[in-house]
Amino acid sequence: MSTPAKNLKEDPKVGQTAPEIDIGIEAGDRKKIAESLMVVLADAFTLYLKTHNFHFNITGEMFNSLHAMFEVQYNEQWMAFDEIAERIRALGYNVPASYEDFQRLTSIKPGTKVEHTDWREMVRQLTVGNEAVSRTARQALGVADKAGDDPTVDMLTQRLKVHEKNAWMLRALLQ
Ligand SMILES: [Fe+2]
Repeated sequence: MSTPAKNLKEDPKVGQTAPEIDIGIEAGDRKKIAESLMVVLADAFTLYLKTHNFHFNITGEMFNSLHAMFEVQYNEQWMAFDEIAERIRALGYNVPASYEDFQRLTSIKPGTKVEHTDWREMVRQLTVGNEAVSRTARQALGVADKAGDDPTVDMLTQRLKVHEKNAWMLRALLQ
């Protein structure tokens, strides 16, 4: 007859302490990757908010097409934002996600106030914003790649594809 499985409730120590993170990435590398992702997240949120702001406020002859284009972009960015944040958590770090955190961490400058009729300035700011996220994501990808963090590399590769494509499509409107 086999021994009955031990009732976990009988051992007061079981389940009380979370184990140390050991996913095969050295602790110093995990920290570097997480910190790089925090900057990517701050940039992604800042660009998301700017894109949604312009979606709300655009007026003029380009309203229909740009209102719709910005909507596609901010919806995609919102979903990615969650994915980046959850990767930071999986690497063992809390997510700095207050307005103050984003302002401190982002590489995207606030930019001048945009008139709601000035669609060209909106598109220009979103072009450089997408380029800024691309640069930050590319930098973080290098850090993750060096440490063999394939899930982060994969995620950032996807982000680069999207932001570089967005930058191209926006830039094309001004050419
Ligand atoms: Fe809308």
